[in-house]
Amino acid sequence: MEQKLKAILETGLAEIKLVKDKNSLLDFKIKYLGKQGELTSILRGMRDVQPQDRPKIGVLVNEVREKLEGAYLEKEKYFNDLDLQKELEKSSIDITEPSRGIERGELHPTTKMFNKLIDICVAMGFQVVEGPEIETDYYNFEGLNIPKNHPSRDMQDTFFITENILLRSQTSSVQVRAMESMKPPIKIIVPGRVYRNDSDGTHSPVFHQLEGLVIDENVSMADLKAMLTSMMGKVFGETTKIRFRPSFFPFTEPSVEVDVSCPSCKGTGCKVCKGSGYLELLGAGVVNPKVLEMSGIDSKKYRGFAFGFGVDRFAMVYYGITDLKNMFKNDARFLNQIK
Ligand code: DAH
Repeated sequence: MEQKLKAILETGLAEIKLVKDKNSLLDFKIKYLGKQGELTSILRGMRDVQPQDRPKIGVLVNEVREKLEGAYLEKEKYFNDLDLQKELEKSSIDITEPSRGIERGELHPTTKMFNKLIDICVAMGFQVVEGPEIETDYYNFEGLNIPKNHPSRDMQDTFFITENILLRSQTSSVQVRAMESMKPPIKIIVPGRVYRNDSDGTHSPVFHQLEGLVIDENVSMADLKAMLTSMMGKVFGETTKIRFRPSFFPFTEPSVEVDVSCPSCKGTGCKVCKGSGYLELLGAGVVNPKVLEMSGIDSKKYRGFAFGFGVDRFAMVYYGITDLKNMFKNDARFLNQIK
């Protein structure tokens, strides 16, 4: 039996040297390592071996099997490598060529401005709240003291879906939602997309606003002014000045239009600000007590102020972008310039 095993090993190792292709390698595998192969038949013959010799023979069988299997695997790897080599030579892709690198993308200027404004406000203690873009007439208008058929609705050309459902025309809608669901003190900002049936050189049917609302026991117009001065300073630089002009919004009383000294010329007058030194950038005011009451907030105890700005316009001023259309074209060549 021992002799036989040694002979199998010797012929096997000699034979594998002669194997020239995958087919004869398979024949080798069947002949020596297969179920009907030489080693298996030896194992079957074990019952004829003297019991005391069986362990020794068993060890020997395993040794021979391991050696033949090793030789087989080595040959198999050799053939596989050869195939891969041939495959690579055929293909036109040079995997050793250095990479061209990945171009780094850039966030949209409006997104960058949003991030900047939100960071500033969160550092001032504001909580970020969001609301739906498809809104009811109540939250977009009535709850903000803009009743049906009131002329002040004409200020915003609205996309109505049904008589009662619309695409929100202002993030102020979320003021009402927040006042209903939160208890004062409230200090929130609302970033979001808004829609108006408006499209020309300076208006887009879709644009972005950031709304702010503060409600507490002792807040006033002075707090509003201080807060906006600080905020605008952080956006456009510490020397930025702001200016209040009387205005009208149904949900604030008094209402103001807030101008910011032109970041481009620092207030001396240039093309950007059309020589005035100031840019009209946001609306604000003291929350109308009627609005507080409608949402269930005691207007004897609490007062509030609010503000809302167009974030696209902020981004345009900040990055020196002159054409609003570029903001909504998604042209990578434009975005790449704003770094
Ligand atoms: N919602 C107004 C608009 O879209 C902007 C605005 C004005 C928001 C005054 C306010 C505010 O919160 O107090 O024109």
